[in-house]
Amino acid sequence: MTEPDPYALAQQFIPAQVAPASPPTLIMLSGLPGSGKSYLARRLHERLGAEIVEADRVRKALFAGPLYTAEESRLVHRVCRIVVGNILRRGGNVIYDATNLVEFHRTFVYRLAERYQARLVIVQTVAPEEVIRERLASRLAARHPLDASDADWGVYEKLKRSISKRDRFAYRVTVVDTTQDVEESVARIVRVIRETAPLMPRDPTM
Ligand SMILES: Nc1ncnc2c1ncn2[C@@H]1O[C@H](COP(=O)(O)OP(=O)(O)OP(=O)(O)O)[C@@H](O)[C@H]1O
Ligand SMILES: [Mg+2]
Repeated sequence: MTEPDPYALAQQFIPAQVAPASPPTLIMLSGLPGSGKSYLARRLHERLGAEIVEADRVRKALFAGPLYTAEESRLVHRVCRIVVGNILRRGGNVIYDATNLVEFHRTFVYRLAERYQARLVIVQTVAPEEVIRERLASRLAARHPLDASDADWGVYEKLKRSISKRDRFAYRVTVVDTTQDVEESVARIVRVIRETAPLMPRDPTM
C-alpha cells in the first residue's frame, strides 16, 4: 500500500481565510485527557479569533474507526502540523489542541513557530485528579456535541504513566488550572501573548 500523502490530506482542514496578525501567535496546548484543553481552546477562540487545530477532530475526519496506533497518530499529527504551519505562514493566529506530552514531538511544533517567526505560547492545562476522573466519567455518560475525544480514565492513566519527569519544555510554559475562573485564565494568556517576543528562525548550520 502506498503511504498516504499528509499534504493532500491536510487540504480539507486548511481554512479558506485567516485574519492576519503581525506577528502571528501559536498557542500550543499541552495536557492530559480531561485536563480541559479543548474547553479552553474554545474560550481562547472566542476571545482571540484564532483558528483551532484539534488533533482529535482531525483523527475522526481521517479515520472513521480510529485505532490510536502509533502509525495513525503519526499521520494525524503530521497533518495537524501542516495545517498549523499553513495558518502561520499566512499570518494567522492558531491554537494547536493536542496532548503534546512528549518533548520530542513538541520540538516539531517549536520549529513551526521559529520558521514563521511567530509568538509561541505554551499553555499546560492541569486539574486535580478527582476532577479529571469525574469529567471523563461524564464524557462516557453524555457526550458534549463539541467533544471529539474518546479518551477515558484508562487512557488518562496510561498517558500519565508515560510522561517522563526528565522531559522538559524548551520554552516558557503557562500553567492553567482549569478548575479556576476561565475568564481570568484567558486574560492571563492574553497578557502572556502580549509580552512574548516572536521566535527567530534557527540557524540551519547549527
Ligand atoms: N474550565 C472548565 N470549566 C468547566 N468544565 C470544564 C472546564 N474545562 C473542561 N471542562 C469539562 O471537562 C470535560 C473535559 O474537558 P476537555 O474536553 O476540554 O478536556 P481535554 O483536555 O480536551 O481532553 P482530551 O485530551 O480527552 O481531548 C469537558 O466535558 C469539559 O466541558
Ligand atoms: Mg480535547
